[in-house]
Amino acid sequence: MIKAAISGTGLYTPPESISNEELVEAFNQYVANFNEQHSSDISDGIIEPLQASSAEFIEKASGIKNRRVINKSGILDPSRMKPFIAERSNDEPSIQCDMAVAAAKEALSQAGKQESDIDAVIIACSNMPRAYPALSVEVQSRLGIDGFAYDMNVACSSATFGLQAAVNAVENGTARAVLVISPEICTAHLNFRDRDSHFIFGDACTAIVVERMEDASGDNIYEVIGTKLKTVFSNNIRNNFGFLNRCDESGVDKPDKLFIQQGRKVFKEVVPMVASIISDHLKENDLSPEQLKRMWLHQANLSMNKLISKKVLGRDPNTLEAPVILDEYANTSSAGSVIAFHKYKDDIEKGNIGVICSFGAGYSVGSVLLRKC
Ligand code: COA
Repeated sequence: MIKAAISGTGLYTPPESISNEELVEAFNQYVANFNEQHSSDISDGIIEPLQASSAEFIEKASGIKNRRVINKSGILDPSRMKPFIAERSNDEPSIQCDMAVAAAKEALSQAGKQESDIDAVIIACSNMPRAYPALSVEVQSRLGIDGFAYDMNVACSSATFGLQAAVNAVENGTARAVLVISPEICTAHLNFRDRDSHFIFGDACTAIVVERMEDASGDNIYEVIGTKLKTVFSNNIRNNFGFLNRCDESGVDKPDKLFIQQGRKVFKEVVPMVASIISDHLKENDLSPEQLKRMWLHQANLSMNKLISKKVLGRDPNTLEAPVILDEYANTSSAGSVIAFHKYKDDIEKGNIGVICSFGAGYSVGSVLLRKC
């Protein structure tokens, strides 16, 4: 029987970053401008004044201190409040393709593999640049990979769902090796005018090489013990942007065409779901929580991750057991748990067990149990 392994990972980090303080300064300027422009409606009680944001609230509520972004100036311009990303011609590579190729090259080099060793490319992320042709096929072509490629979107859980698809392809023999790539430009679907969520997201891209255990070489090989996925429908994280928008002009550019969430409900409902999926996944593989040495969790909220780890381990985790990257990157959707894995996997001892676990819109949860070889 063929067993699959992860033999390399890569990360593309955008060069620009925005601190909480910078983000809040721009937001509060927008609020002051809005309230001044609407002062008579506000004093007549027709509309409520907008409220200021605070850097202290953001760090306390989420653990986020900073985010990496594709474009800083557009986001921090109070009259714009969105990244400026120039449209590219059909003859140029798309920006997500550039990010994907950079991350993929690092993953290939870590795995000691050439493009010719790869048979499939899965682009697994929350937002695609266009309807078609598939971004994955563009990336496949840029990398010069012979085989097949497809896109998939399961929001923040895209990478772990993509990993299951890659593991299945390798184990059933339809591909020798697969690249799973998550180019996330979350700032492009974030409403920077919404106080409740303007601080949540950042941009990044991750890549993972999944291949046959017998073909994997190097010092950082992880056997995939198993994958476990779960979805339960919820409207608490939603984005109504889509191809039907133009068919009803009244809805175009309304706030629901960007990311919206009921953060507190998501917190309460998702934490127990994630903890029970990881615990069940361990049990199904005859593993105990004591054997779990690392949890590379989705990076949305620090308290959420602490609570999930505590429920799974039966005690508070230390920082090495549940590494944090959201302080620097914010929530990078499906890339988050893979960034944590990429940055905090090399020091694990051979034979030790870890789990990559994503969770988010859908709701969706993906658990990938790994053993260091
Ligand atoms: N600055 C200052 N105050 C703010 C604020 C801001 N930017 N945003 C909200 N507040 C206020 C609220 O108005 C509220 O005030 P009130 O108590 O007077 O009503 C208070 O702070 C608490 O707001 P709330 O939204 O309940 O905060 P929270 O503690 O739930 O934290 C999140 C918000 C989003 C950080 C948190 O709910 C979260 O991370 N949830 C999980 C999200 C998640 O995992 N999503 C997956 C996404 S893919």
